[in-house]
Amino acid sequence: MTRISLTVDGASVSDDVEPRMLLVHYLREKLGKTGTVIGCDTSNCGACTVHLNGTSVKSCNVLAVQADGAEVTTIEGLARDGELHPVQEAFRECHGLQCGFCTPGMIMQSVALLQENPKPSEEEIRLGLEGNLCRCTGYHNIVRAVQHASGQAETAGATS
Ligand code: FES
Ligand code: FES
Repeated sequence: MTRISLTVDGASVSDDVEPRMLLVHYLREKLGKTGTVIGCDTSNCGACTVHLNGTSVKSCNVLAVQADGAEVTTIEGLARDGELHPVQEAFRECHGLQCGFCTPGMIMQSVALLQENPKPSEEEIRLGLEGNLCRCTGYHNIVRAVQHASGQAETAGATS
């Protein structure tokens, strides 16, 4: 076992973990952060996306020990004082989800995308989300949601 200490959604945590334990398993099984989901076993769906020191990562592709000393934010840490994060609100507003399974990862990736590029073009949004799969194929409204969150709702043709 290896001792790790990190901050997750603003709370300091320390645990002994198996060196082979994946970060996504640590978040879900040790911390109960089941908002971060597992959608594949090939590291290609992006459903498990979290922020590690401000950068989006697929948490099924990172060992828990690699997060030692880091700051991790999950979908459960985005809302503040009972208020949805603007990107969460935009997904709700634009119906950027169907079954919702891909949504935590889509939102975490979208937040990171907008931090890097606050006014992305539609092409840049689609490129930025290419590592995240929506098996309901609801990509159009997801792109609209990101445009809405970036204040570009008009250019997205959004009606709500
Ligand atoms: S569960 Fe991590 S990429 Fe699919
Ligand atoms: S909303 Fe169902 S997988 Fe994306």
